Amino acid sequence: MSNTHKVNILMVDDQPSKLMSYEAILSDLGDNLIKATSGREALEHLLKSDIAVVLMDVSMPELDGFELAEMIRQHPRYQNTAIIFISAIHMSDIDRLRGYAQGAVDYISVPVVPELLRAKVSVFAELHRRTRQLGALNDELRVLSQKLINMQDEERRRIARELHDSLGQELSAVKMMSDSICADTGLTPSSKKSALEMSSLVDHAIQQVRSISYLLHPPLLDEIGLPSALEWYVEGLTKRSGIDISICLDPPEFPRLAPEVEVTVFRIVQEALTNVFRHSEAHRAEVTVTLRDSEVRTRICDDGKGIEPLVSELQPQGLGVGIAGMKQRVKEFGGTLKLVRNDPGTTVEASIPVAPVVARAGT
Ligand SMILES: Nc1ncnc2c1ncn2[C@@H]1O[C@H](COP(=O)(O)OP(=O)(O)OP(=O)(O)O)[C@@H](O)[C@H]1O
Ligand SMILES: [Mg+2]
Repeated sequence: MSNTHKVNILMVDDQPSKLMSYEAILSDLGDNLIKATSGREALEHLLKSDIAVVLMDVSMPELDGFELAEMIRQHPRYQNTAIIFISAIHMSDIDRLRGYAQGAVDYISVPVVPELLRAKVSVFAELHRRTRQLGALNDELRVLSQKLINMQDEERRRIARELHDSLGQELSAVKMMSDSICADTGLTPSSKKSALEMSSLVDHAIQQVRSISYLLHPPLLDEIGLPSALEWYVEGLTKRSGIDISICLDPPEFPRLAPEVEVTVFRIVQEALTNVFRHSEAHRAEVTVTLRDSEVRTRICDDGKGIEPLVSELQPQGLGVGIAGMKQRVKEFGGTLKLVRNDPGTTVEASIPVAPVVARAGT
């Protein structure tokens, strides 16, 4: 077993000879065995190290095992630390054990059967090891999904710029040339008709490139700020979808926020409204962005068919990339995301804590 996978097992007994016998029984497990001869010494170890299992004698002078367990449980960090009591169990002891509803608790009666003690400690040690590994994996996953979202934002911004600056510019050049061909008075009627058609097709292509580029990353968002970018987006979507979408900003003179907050709010509105369009069958939708001293709250309501419980409970099986991405973005700021099924419709509400508003260029 590698060092990183070893866990700490704390053995507490006022009799050193018993501690030595537990040590002999448990040494095969390959974990770190820590000895304490009093409740106080045990508490010191608990404060210093991450303890997976506490093995303790119930009857100790000063602080008995139950009192020590009580103190351990009061500390939030140790609420789930496994405790194994060693005692000549009496009925009254079993009653006291029942009091420990939270966290893992077990007992071993004396005389101790070595195999039994080893088996019980090893189960709790393994549980702790797995929990630790799961925690580390969760942390990695969180970092990774945050990186993915940032990369996606950056990539969208880059592709938007490329489309606008290269393909957009080249199409503009083609448009100028086609316009000059159209203006040629020596063209036959059929060539003139083709030239006009070409010019109109190029116009259409320029419009498409502009729309795709702006939807990928609206330049208004960086240049003028969230309200203009949201109004532009909502106006376009209203035209494309036929859904009557209104937008309300509070305060109406909405100040500039940190760039990452503006991108996050924009992406949440974009995804929520795309969902309204794709899934809700709604006729109306309303976007409200409210800024208070310490938070920005974004609500998107629709009057459509509503969401399933799996979606409102944010269960991974019910979510696609869209809501999972919203959840991740909000979490990154320490905010909250709520999806509620109304009658009729759905409300998506994201709250993000913000620092007091700082003026930025473009305010
Ligand atoms: N406004 C809404 N009205 C009704 N159902 C909705 C609404 N928003 C989301 N849903 C439901 O929640 C599900 C998950 O949404 P989510 O945005 O996570 O994924 P998606 O839209 O299916 O796919 P994508 O990954 O492209 O976003 C949708 O498939 C849909 O069933
Ligand atoms: Mg979606």
